[in-house]
Amino acid sequence: MSSIIQFDHVHYKYPGDEKESLCGISLSIEEGSFVAVLGRNGSGKSSVAKHMNAILVPDSGKVTVCGMDTADESNLLKIRRNVGMVFQNPDNQIVANVVEDDVAFAPENLGIPSAEIRERVDSSLELVGMLEYKKHAPHLLSGGQKQRVAIAGVLAMQPGIIVLDEPTAMLDPQGRKDVISTITRLCRENHMTVVLITHHMDECVNADEVIVLSAGSVAASGPPQEVFSDIALMEEQGLSSPETVKILYDLNREGFSFPLTTLGVDACAQMIADALESR
Ligand SMILES: Nc1ncnc2c1ncn2[C@@H]1O[C@H](COP(=O)(O)OP(=O)(O)O)[C@@H](O)[C@H]1O
Ligand SMILES: [Mg+2]
Repeated sequence: MSSIIQFDHVHYKYPGDEKESLCGISLSIEEGSFVAVLGRNGSGKSSVAKHMNAILVPDSGKVTVCGMDTADESNLLKIRRNVGMVFQNPDNQIVANVVEDDVAFAPENLGIPSAEIRERVDSSLELVGMLEYKKHAPHLLSGGQKQRVAIAGVLAMQPGIIVLDEPTAMLDPQGRKDVISTITRLCRENHMTVVLITHHMDECVNADEVIVLSAGSVAASGPPQEVFSDIALMEEQGLSSPETVKILYDLNREGFSFPLTTLGVDACAQMIADALESR
């Protein structure tokens, strides 16, 4: 596997700010992987996301996307086509009065022939499970459905990478579930690279890698099993561990010795049942 997004010692300060928001970040994201970015408010998550499609460029250091330096303006269009962004508020991302027109908006702006646009709109809506709503008015949909339409709009540009900045923050539990299972499928079945910024630990359980940001630096990174089982780190960063890890941790304090690396609910329940049976 090769690195599709690379940050090398990236420093960034917003104009007018006194202190840096990104203080020498280095990270590497593998092509086709599902990476979750965590960290408390103000830790730099959105600033990192904005460096991934050249909305921001580093003051020093380097960001490379699909082999292209984001600081080179001649790469801008190609980078923007390769990296689709989805933001927190679905209402701010909807531009048309009919779902299919909304999804067609970006490819229309790219000058893609209309027959191909129609195909892309249908296949994108199909991928997010919203094809049957193609003639609907977006503002009548639920938050989760709107967010899936926003994701379809990004998919219609056929990017290799999708960056989602707290896409579930305004959704109810069912909407959250639908959005997360949609993006997980895009990664696993359609081989897209997915970068998910989130506050919800349970959304990161299936990620290949978790990156924890703290005050503009990378505090930890690794597979979720490894990061989430570091209870001291999680507490220090103001992050709550997934429910499964918490239960195993509490049981260990009562004399069990479970590994804290079983994140799936079913696997965790089975492990506890087995341990109780053999007592
Ligand atoms: N538009 C902006 N202008 C000035 N400072 C900003 C701006 N956006 C973010 N910051 C600052 O950058 C730091 C990181 O913010 P951000 O990347 O939004 O963090 P997060 O997404 O993790 O909450 C914060 O200290 C914040 O105050
Ligand atoms: Mg943010």
